[in-house]
Amino acid sequence: MCGIFGCIMKEGNAAPIIHASLKRLEYRGYDSVGIATIQDGTIYMKKDQGKIDDVHRCIDLDDLPGNVGIGHTRWATHGAPLKVNAHPHTDCSGQIAVVHNGIIENFSELKLELENRGHIFLSKTDTEIIAHLIEETLKQNPTLSLADAVLDAVKKLDGSYAIAVISAKEPDKIICARNESPLVLGVSDNAVYCASDIPAFLPLTNKAVFVNNGELVILSPAGYEIRKIQDSSVAAREPKIIDWTPEMAVKQGYPYFMIKEIHEQPATLRNTLRIQEHYLDLISTFLDRAQEVFLVACGTSYHACLAASYMFSKLAFLPTYPVFASEFVEQHGKSVSIDSTILAISQSGETADTLSAVNSAQQRAATILGLTNTIGSTLTRISRVYIGQQSGPEIGVAATKTFTSQLSVLAQLALRLSKKRGKVSQDEMDYLAEKLEKLPDIVDTIIQSQEEKVKQIANKYKDAKIFFFLGRGISTATAFEGRLKLMEIAYVPSIAFPAGESKHGPISLIEAGFPVVFICPRDGPHKTLIGNIMEMKARGASIIAVVEEGDEEVKALSDDYVEVPKGVPEVLSPIPFAVPLQLLAYYMALERGYNPDTPRNLAKSVTVK
Ligand code: AGP
Repeated sequence: MCGIFGCIMKEGNAAPIIHASLKRLEYRGYDSVGIATIQDGTIYMKKDQGKIDDVHRCIDLDDLPGNVGIGHTRWATHGAPLKVNAHPHTDCSGQIAVVHNGIIENFSELKLELENRGHIFLSKTDTEIIAHLIEETLKQNPTLSLADAVLDAVKKLDGSYAIAVISAKEPDKIICARNESPLVLGVSDNAVYCASDIPAFLPLTNKAVFVNNGELVILSPAGYEIRKIQDSSVAAREPKIIDWTPEMAVKQGYPYFMIKEIHEQPATLRNTLRIQEHYLDLISTFLDRAQEVFLVACGTSYHACLAASYMFSKLAFLPTYPVFASEFVEQHGKSVSIDSTILAISQSGETADTLSAVNSAQQRAATILGLTNTIGSTLTRISRVYIGQQSGPEIGVAATKTFTSQLSVLAQLALRLSKKRGKVSQDEMDYLAEKLEKLPDIVDTIIQSQEEKVKQIANKYKDAKIFFFLGRGISTATAFEGRLKLMEIAYVPSIAFPAGESKHGPISLIEAGFPVVFICPRDGPHKTLIGNIMEMKARGASIIAVVEEGDEEVKALSDDYVEVPKGVPEVLSPIPFAVPLQLLAYYMALERGYNPDTPRNLAKSVTVK
């Protein structure tokens, strides 16, 4: 998964704009960077492996002539993160340059065909074949326009792609095309932009045009033209105003995006409570009528599915099946039918495993519902109905504010479902709804009052070799999320279990000083959890508990604890109880000298299966 960007400037050089915009896309991949521009019919290119700042220091990415250009920041999939594999890639003549995000599945057979026609390949990437395909098409038919040559080329591609192409043949144009990988345009009086994601051009314009799958775009000084790849028909589309301020895309003074986004949760949770009733009603109606409901997602979004399965069962007596998206087809592919309903959850709306699970279910006539943070993403287009969770852009690779927002939406859906099904009394409904409204403030209190404490705990356990995370009931989902955060951000091997499971094997790992994090909402299976705490303590474990204020019983058993304000119903507890675990991972990463925003081997949304 990479970040692509392109721009046509009415005034000034493109390179400095491209450089700055790639910096805003660096969370999408940071293995190598490159820029290509056109001046007087010549393509100028600079690229190298490494992070943008490091490469810029060596080769000055701003110093390229021309007002038209494309750029790329890479997360390697095909070909090691080396200079030769850095984008842009060119054809044999150096007259065509391409940047690409995605995976071309049939690239090796296409490469062989082109090599048999005499094309010389410099890199090991799948992307380079696109430049040579366009070159070959133009060699066969020199009268073709660049757009038509790109059209011809992309029709030969299998797999996911978002590409931007420039050519000395038509020096005032950029041709883009999209299949699965994200692509969005930005328009302003001084320029037109194409990018993998909105934050790239947000400081330059808030007018965005979303490009659909199977579309090609011609950017020129006159603006943009969208065509369908299938039949070249023109698709008219007006820009949407993005109500994200440019600042939302920068750190607002926080050292890292992750901590900024953790601190944004009170605001984002309030936003999520403002979601249009209509969509909540629509989705809860579909869930109410469903024969069977699968909750499908990856990573943190899967943990939201797991929590939702407890919410839907406890509040609406609706059984649902949380499923890892990457296992969906194998586990349920054959049993899915027209009676199945899939609620797919993905903050990016572009995670390939989730989209392919959804596609397979759709092919069996299942009803697809979506919950995402990215309006305009693929998930929004393939869902029968979707909800945009309104968390604003999440730049840090670690999902934090998007997780708590997902949980808030799912809790709102569960309450509506329980109302539709008359499973809980009106009093309890009102009580839970009131508590949900209070959660933004509760999260704010936790951040204000407990952050320092979490910092000390991270410092105390910074050298721990392994961590356990345990919870009962819905806190099992919270435990899994705490584990994922500590692993992906601070690289601490961590294990999570439903606490009741721990004595069926994992407890054999426990020895003196072994840190075990317990998630202990007061409401719910509190007594049995205390039993689990004592089992661990008896074997020398160091108990770190996330407890409710005033829970003296658990606090007395704990070596360290973090407090959550009183009165959070168990079924809503993953929202506030996840926050101290997000902070623990963040401060543990700092204690261990790691950058929390760009964890190794990871990137924001995984568009490869
Ligand atoms: C979480 O911190 C990770 N970034 C990752 O597990 C993520 O949740 C997963 O890739 C799913 O992403 P999505 O919600 O965009 O589909």
